[in-house]
Amino acid sequence: MSLADRLAQARLERGNYGDLSRSGGHGTQPQASSIGPKSRRRNAPPTDPFADLRRTVHQTLLESLGPKLYDSRLSQAELEQRVRHTLQEVLQADQVPLTVTDRSRIAQEIADDILGYGPVEPYLRDPEITEIMVNGPDQIYVERRGRLHAVDGRFADEAHLRRTIDKIVGRVGRRVDEASPMVDARLHDGSRVNAIIPPLAVDGSLLTIRKFAADPFEVDDLIQLGTLSRAVADVLAACVRGRLNILVSGGTGAGKTTTLNVLSGFIPETDRVVTIEDAAELQLHQEHVLRLESRPANIEGKGEVSIRQLVRNALRMRPDRIIVGEIRDAAALDMLQAMNVGHDGSICTVHANTPRDVLSRVETMVLMAGMDLPVKAIREQVSSAIDLIIQQARFPDGSRRVTAVTEVMGMEGDIITLQDIFRYSYDGAVGPDGVPTGRLEWTGIRPAFLEKAARSGVQIDLRAFGGYRRHAR
Ligand SMILES: Nc1ncnc2c1ncn2[C@@H]1O[C@H](COP(=O)(O)OP(=O)(O)O)[C@@H](O)[C@H]1O
Ligand SMILES: [Mg+2]
Repeated sequence: MSLADRLAQARLERGNYGDLSRSGGHGTQPQASSIGPKSRRRNAPPTDPFADLRRTVHQTLLESLGPKLYDSRLSQAELEQRVRHTLQEVLQADQVPLTVTDRSRIAQEIADDILGYGPVEPYLRDPEITEIMVNGPDQIYVERRGRLHAVDGRFADEAHLRRTIDKIVGRVGRRVDEASPMVDARLHDGSRVNAIIPPLAVDGSLLTIRKFAADPFEVDDLIQLGTLSRAVADVLAACVRGRLNILVSGGTGAGKTTTLNVLSGFIPETDRVVTIEDAAELQLHQEHVLRLESRPANIEGKGEVSIRQLVRNALRMRPDRIIVGEIRDAAALDMLQAMNVGHDGSICTVHANTPRDVLSRVETMVLMAGMDLPVKAIREQVSSAIDLIIQQARFPDGSRRVTAVTEVMGMEGDIITLQDIFRYSYDGAVGPDGVPTGRLEWTGIRPAFLEKAARSGVQIDLRAFGGYRRHAR
């Protein structure tokens, strides 16, 4: 069949987009639940004048390339070249008059669909975009410079979105279906993906991609972004070198992992570092770094390896420091024990809204270990293990700021005492974004941790911020 015939035939079959992938030899067609127009909370998408053309071209292309698309001997570059070549031919054979811009845009969109992840592909390529959120087929949001923006991209329909999700998770050997409607996966570039499908997702499948930073933030970037000042960064660097045990706390997307990565950068080259994460996000520059990643249970519910198990294993690996991406369960108990038995200088993140909240979170997580420990004993462990809490928050203008640097002092009766060394204070003015302005200020307290750092040979002097007003109790 000539290309022109194919086009003619494809036109007859038009309007059957849901079947496209089958005709192209895709294995299984996802059984996407039908999401009726009524259940959509979003306005009807504006009509795409090229929808028909796109469908025809897409289908013809799949037919003419057929099995070549799945030929494993073809390299990605070769495949890409073939797709583009065929695409040009098909577009030329079609008589529809197109401007050069439209032609190349459509070609790109179709190539993205076949070779990549369709409508999200342009956002994956855009280095300024850090997060992509697909809220059902008709709505995509991206985060750019800390702010959310709705973008024009959209999927043809729910089936198209499901095919894309299947493609993403299929490449890492996972699957999403009725039996496991939620899945975490990772793109080949390290970006983290979460997908959740109907009926759990009520208005259509939801896909969230946290892009892997090819060029992660360094301390200078954080300073430039206003997350903290150079002077505070210097103190924190000294705290890391001085082997304090540090928790970085904040809400989702507050920049905890980013700060953890920057802090880890201050660890001396001579230390043997073990990192433990759910999905390897940290990018340490040191030579002597051992990276461990936990594993969820497989479809039969077997084979899970938890952060907690990895922490225990790490203790047998003669680490100088243990870095845990995020503590969210009974692993807290093992981490506290590790910190208390000589793995000083460990750093973790924890999801909490204030330093005080960190303590209750950690307490709850330790209780999850089911060891039946008295609360007072847990608190004693916590207060002797953790030296410093760095609290961070996402501000309404999209910036991330350190809002407190708080020292864990000890116990007074049954209560753990905390003391802010730096605290964010609002100056009463409002910035151009309508966000109250302020900054992180030294509280005038001479921290007790100076001694601990000094024992590790690191001198920290806060007098650069002004005279000590109070000494640690
Ligand atoms: N200090 C910062 N200033 C501005 N944006 C940041 C900062 N730290 C992180 N981000 C952005 O915020 C997003 C979430 O960061 P991440 O460190 O993964 O947060 P968390 O671990 O708290 O969920 C990333 O996309 C990152 O680009
Ligand atoms: Mg994180």
